[in-house]
Amino acid sequence: MIRFTVLTIFPDMIKQGLDTSILGRAQAAGHISVEAINIRDYTLDKHQKVDDYPYGGGAGMVMQAQPVYDAYKAVEDKCASKPRVIYVTPQGRTFNQDLAKELSKEEELVFLCGHYEGIDERVLEEIVTDNISIGDYVLTGGELPAMVMIDAVARLVPGVLNNDVSAEFESFNDNLLEYPQYSRPEEWNGKKVPEILLSGHHANVEKWRREQSIIRTLERRPDLLENANLSKKEQAFLEEYKKLPCNVRR
Ligand code: ADE
Repeated sequence: MIRFTVLTIFPDMIKQGLDTSILGRAQAAGHISVEAINIRDYTLDKHQKVDDYPYGGGAGMVMQAQPVYDAYKAVEDKCASKPRVIYVTPQGRTFNQDLAKELSKEEELVFLCGHYEGIDERVLEEIVTDNISIGDYVLTGGELPAMVMIDAVARLVPGVLNNDVSAEFESFNDNLLEYPQYSRPEEWNGKKVPEILLSGHHANVEKWRREQSIIRTLERRPDLLENANLSKKEQAFLEEYKKLPCNVRR
């Protein structure tokens, strides 16, 4: 069970994004909980403002420290110990499957979503434990990245996917991409399903899939192969495959 809490000025966005489909079911079943806290509810400003002009001038507005801090404190008060607080920011370390795995071991995760030109640095220094980005591009706010990370972490929580096997054997496990999948009919648009998948020979199917994963990773994400866990035989297969001229590959 992981409790996800998102500090945001757009709580509806989080609820609408995460209360549906698999994560909606996972919440109903008690495998995870997702709470969105509206930072605006904590402002002491009489006009409900949460942002102000940046000292030193410049474009845009800055989210003020007070409402963010008070919203966070309300969450911390309900936790047994200080939770990991993730500031969702393009300035953070880049999120990946290893980090998703690491975060899935926590019981409590708080995501802080910024808007405008950012959040007053002083409150970030006070509460943030991790700065995490979802990639080298800039979005309008932290809500979508927070949802991306929550989805990736939640699906690793036991019980969230109906079979544990599918969480394990997917793209990025072992640093290999997933093999191609086929379903009925046996022939579609003149294209046949690879013969071996119809053979019923389990060991051969597994070997073929593993090889397809290796080929696919070589072709699409060769950078991943450096950290892939290949057996001696698989390494030999890869070396032989690389020697093939492009037109006879696959
Ligand atoms: N906020 C805006 N862009 C972002 C990104 N790429 N990752 C995380 N948070 C962000």
